[in-house]
Amino acid sequence: MRIILVGPPGAGKGTQAGRIAERFDVPHIATGDLFRKNVSANTDVGRRAKAAMDRGELVPDDVVLEMLRARLDEPDAKAGFLLDGFPRTVAQADALATMLHNGDSPLDAVVAVRVPDEVIVSRIAQRRSCPVCGRIYNESTHPAAIPGVCDADGERLVQRSDDMPEVVRTRLKVYHDQTEPLIAYYRERDLLRTVDGVGPVEEVEARIAKELAER
Ligand code: AP5
Repeated sequence: MRIILVGPPGAGKGTQAGRIAERFDVPHIATGDLFRKNVSANTDVGRRAKAAMDRGELVPDDVVLEMLRARLDEPDAKAGFLLDGFPRTVAQADALATMLHNGDSPLDAVVAVRVPDEVIVSRIAQRRSCPVCGRIYNESTHPAAIPGVCDADGERLVQRSDDMPEVVRTRLKVYHDQTEPLIAYYRERDLLRTVDGVGPVEEVEARIAKELAER
């Protein structure tokens, strides 16, 4: 199964992607997570991505595509994957189509998660995450058992540096300007499924799973 989750920042893509990837037994590939790991490790990719990420803008396509191509070449992604945060532009979608068709392995479905901007702003303000395992929390809707500490590995939770309100405003604008056109792009290719992303996490997960089962 080859699946893409698309949606605005804070729509719950990361939260849902882990669950859906497990259900369908495919690796969860999140370009944002890959970039954050590269930034922490101060790799060449991390250094090339950091400035754009800090401003809430998109990392240049050549950097994204080089990193994604290498990840899709790994053995666990051969039979399928769930992409979270990629593609984000029509140029990236075209590049992905070329990569997949060259390998004769087209996409199965693209799930667009819809959440209004005002809900996003509040979700992101309350998001905390584990810098080690990446687990995502929310101070009001999904708090850690011990405040500020990861349930899985006991690490101290952090707020992402691009979750500051002014950066979130830029990320939302970038989404509407550059990523939203992908909705029409994938609708035209008969791959699009749309899901309401507001409601309990388990309900949103069930909506996504239902769409994928019916594809
Ligand atoms: P990335 O990490 O992909 O960030 P994003 O797309 O902005 O998405 P987020 O991670 O902010 O949100 P999410 O939808 O995963 O929501 P989450 O599950 O955490 O990208 C970061 C940066 O990297 C980009 O700005 C860019 O610079 C760069 N980048 C990455 N990919 C790129 C690409 N392809 N091209 C170019 N640049 C790229 O949930 C949010 C909060 O809401 C959490 O607190 C969660 O607990 C809570 N929540 C989730 N679901 C629910 C629910 N149903 N009800 C209530 N609360 C909920």
